[in-house]
Amino acid sequence: MYHLTHRPSSWDEVVGQEVIVSKLRKAIFPLPPYMLEGGRGLGKTSMALVLGKSLGIAKGNIIEINCVHYSTKASIEDIYRNFLRGSFHGSSKLLVLDEIHGMSSASQQFLLKELENLPSERAVIACTTTVEKVIPTLLDRFVRYRVKPLSDSNLKIILDKVIKEEGIALSRWKKVLLIKSVDGNPRNLLTSLYKIEDTSLSKEDVEKILEVASVVNDGEDVLSLAKMLLSGSPWEAISKEMTVLLKKLTPDSIRIALVSIYSSRLLSRYVTDEKDTLELTKVFLETLRSNSFLEKANLILSVRHLYLIIKGE
Ligand SMILES: Nc1ncnc2c1ncn2[C@@H]1O[C@H](COP(=O)(O)OP(=O)(O)OP(=O)(O)O)[C@@H](O)[C@H]1O
Ligand SMILES: [Mg+2]
Repeated sequence: MYHLTHRPSSWDEVVGQEVIVSKLRKAIFPLPPYMLEGGRGLGKTSMALVLGKSLGIAKGNIIEINCVHYSTKASIEDIYRNFLRGSFHGSSKLLVLDEIHGMSSASQQFLLKELENLPSERAVIACTTTVEKVIPTLLDRFVRYRVKPLSDSNLKIILDKVIKEEGIALSRWKKVLLIKSVDGNPRNLLTSLYKIEDTSLSKEDVEKILEVASVVNDGEDVLSLAKMLLSGSPWEAISKEMTVLLKKLTPDSIRIALVSIYSSRLLSRYVTDEKDTLELTKVFLETLRSNSFLEKANLILSVRHLYLIIKGE
């Protein structure tokens, strides 16, 4: 996939994000801990790794951990101790704390103390999409930067570079539709490019593909709501999840994501039972139907209705 093979590997290759690039490209030891915060696929991890390179840190001395998988205090302590230790690869080291919001609060408390006096030649950079889950005292330890969605002209720079390097012939109208569909998100740009590069696709096909792609991107967030509904979670939990979702997404995109999740489940090999498919079909039709009036009211009512259907009332 192009988003994996076309990661920026130097500050010159990072498009946009001018504030972050101008500050971090000048960074030299000793350094404060940095934090990059912002939406999915906007280049946080890529820039964290570029920082390591631009500081001249050997690859073997760049420790990248996904905090979601190392959330216990014991494992963070282990990783941190190892990070402080000397190494054969050189004197400087970088610790990338990816998805730092996934750490338990005990682990966050541990870091709070450690980050107060970061030794020279040790750099720490954290990335997060969900800054609200990081304890405020820990946030204060970091110099924080917000990663922003890219402008259409910056997306075009990335797109033109990738299609040139890959030898893809992409017509102008496809470029325009593609850029318009991804809302400033470079990762979505490259994953959607992959889906529409085929030259035999009609304009209508491309529009459909891009529409579905943008829904599937939101799908990840809506998936938990879909699962809660199907597993018969209590209404309190469902309504709480909806409140969170409605802060991020429009009611219609939540509804469309639900429809596409349910329809793809119908084709899944995990759903074999007749009763299950009947249930799913009901849920699917209900979600599909609820698009005629005020979109927010519709969504809430249809989710409530689904909840009642699943409970068998
Ligand atoms: N500023 C940029 N310039 C060029 N390419 C970019 C830029 N930002 C992101 N990309 C492209 O998007 C891809 C995804 O970026 P990355 O994985 O760094 O995002 P992320 O913010 O860490 O996402 P997540 O929150 O999901 O972990 C990169 O591999 C790269 O191809
Ligand atoms: Mg990342």
